[in-house]
Amino acid sequence: MDVTFTCDNEAPGIAAGPEIVSHPLLHLHYISCSLIAADTAQTTLESLVHQSRARNLSIGVTGSLLFAQNQFSQILEGPESAVSLVMASILQDHRHTDCVVIEECAIETRRFQGWSMAYSGASAFVAQSVTRALAGARSGSKRDIRRLLRLMLEFAAQPEHPAVASPRPM
Ligand SMILES: Cc1cc2nc3c(=O)[nH]c(=O)nc-3n(C[C@H](O)[C@H](O)[C@H](O)COP(=O)(O)O)c2cc1C
Repeated sequence: MDVTFTCDNEAPGIAAGPEIVSHPLLHLHYISCSLIAADTAQTTLESLVHQSRARNLSIGVTGSLLFAQNQFSQILEGPESAVSLVMASILQDHRHTDCVVIEECAIETRRFQGWSMAYSGASAFVAQSVTRALAGARSGSKRDIRRLLRLMLEFAAQPEHPAVASPRPM
C-alpha cells in the first residue's frame, strides 16, 4: 500500500481531539473493481460477508463493505495489526482488482460498531450518489471520500433496509 491519506477532521463520526492517542485504532478505506460474474454476485457476496464477519469479529475488526456499480468500497477499523492482516488477504483476493487505498489514518473511536454489508441500487438516487462518490474518491477528491463514508454510515445505520445486512454488535 503506497497511498496514505490523513483523515479529514470534518468527516462524520470523527471526534475532535488530539491526534495521538495511547491505543490508536487504524481506519482504512479502499475501493476496488469487482471481478465477480453478475449471475453469481448475490451468492458470492453473501458467503464473502458471512466469512468476513466471522473472521473480523474474532480479531476485533469492524467496518462496512459497499457493493455498487460493480465496485467495492470497504472501510476496516481496528488495531493496526488486525487491519493489516485482513488487508493483506484482501489485496491477494482474485475476486477484485484495481484496489486503491483512499484513506488511512489513526482514529480514536470506531464509527462502525459491527460489520455490515450494503448493496446499493435500492433506488436510482442512491445508486447515482454512490457512483458519483466512487468516481470522485478514486481520483482523490476529499469531498467525495467524505461523501462515500457518509453514505456507508447511512447504510449501516439502517439494519431494517432490505439491501443491507445488519451488523452484529461487538
Ligand atoms: C471486496 C472484498 C472484501 C473482503 N473483506 C474481507 C474482510 O473484511 N475480512 C476478511 O476476513 N476477508 C475479507 N475478504 C476475503 C479475503 O480476501 C480472503 O479471501 C479471506 O480473508 C481468507 O483469507 P486467507 O486466504 O488469507 O486466509 C474480502 C474479499 C473481497 C473480494
